[in-house]
Parts: sequence; C-alpha cells; structure tokens
Amino acid sequence: MYGEEDVEEVLLSAEEVQRGVVSLGQRISADYAGKEVTLICILKGAVMFTADLMRQLTVPTRLDFIAISSYGAGTKSSGVVKILKDLDEPIEGKDVLVVEDIVDTGLTLKYLIESLQARKPASLRCCVFLDKPARREVEIEPDYVGYTIPDRFVVGYGLDYAGRYRNLPFVGVLRSEVYADE
Ligand code: IMP
Repeated sequence: MYGEEDVEEVLLSAEEVQRGVVSLGQRISADYAGKEVTLICILKGAVMFTADLMRQLTVPTRLDFIAISSYGAGTKSSGVVKILKDLDEPIEGKDVLVVEDIVDTGLTLKYLIESLQARKPASLRCCVFLDKPARREVEIEPDYVGYTIPDRFVVGYGLDYAGRYRNLPFVGVLRSEVYADE
C-alpha cells in the first residue's frame, strides 16, 4: 500500500540516484571553488536531493528553504506560483544555487528564478535532479541536471503522487491503476 509495489518500472535505482548526486557534487564544488554557496531547497520534493547533494559539496555552504505552490488544475502546472514559505535570509550579494527535484514544463522554476533574481544575488543558478525536456513550455536550461528522463510521471527520492511515495530510495514510474483508483 503506497509503497514500491505500486511502481511498474524503476527508472533509476538507489545506486544510480546516489551516483548522480556524487557527480553533481563534484561539478558544483569545482565551479564554486573559493566561494560560499547558498543552497535554496524547494520544499517539499527537493528535500532528499538537497540533503544528499549538500554532503557532497566541499565548498562552504548555507541552506535556506522556500515552499511554493503552483495554482492550476490537478497535475497541470499553470506557471502562477504562490510563495507559501519564504526564505529566512536575504540573498542579496550571495552566490545562490536553487535546488529542485524535477523540471517539467519549466513554468515553476522560471517564475521562481525570476522572482529571486529581483533580490539581487551575486549569482543565481539552478540544479535539478531530473529533467523532462519533452514537456517544456518555457525556455529554461537548468545549469546542473542529474538525469534527463522521458515523459513519464515518476515518484520516489522526494517526488510524490498525491503526497505519497517520497520515501522510496529510487525513482520509478507509478502503475496506471494507482491513478485509476483516485
Ligand atoms: P513544472 O512547472 O511543470 O516544471 O513543474 C515542476 C513541478 O511539478 C515539480 O516541482 C514537481 O513538483 C511536479 N512534477 C513534475 N513532474 C513530476 C513527476 O514526474 N513526478 C512528480 N512530480 C512532478
């Protein structure tokens, strides 16, 4: 019930997930050498990814959280984003790295990046664990991508369906019956 038995296909095993995070950590550490990076974790989906990524960074780090909600029907993103919980600290003059679980249409991330840019960080980049370029509606190229995946709805490693399955240590495709039951 609401566990791995509801997954029809594993896209990324727990080992592949961790390998992806290690390699992103190495790239980011090299790119930010000599700087302090302020990670902004987008709640709730990016929690696992941020926690793992942060432990791979060899540069000094700070951590803040932002919670947003997309207005729009069901699973479709509208691009209108409401900030439910704002950052605790100002980001003016900081080297900011936004950490997100997945970029799909791109609407959410584009809106967020634009609103954070207005706060005048020294630099602003984004790191997504998963990229689904097939569904992109707006132009946004994440600076760091863990894995590019096909257009399937995935859960696990922080990603949810109706609030569940975030705890799975791998990334998998949900069985269609799970949607049908709703
Ligand atoms: P976008 O605005 O369409 O790029 O939406 C991104 C958000 O939609 C992500 O932060 C996720 O919360 C959600 N999302 C998109 N695709 C998936 C998926 O395959 N599984 C779970 N959540 C997803």
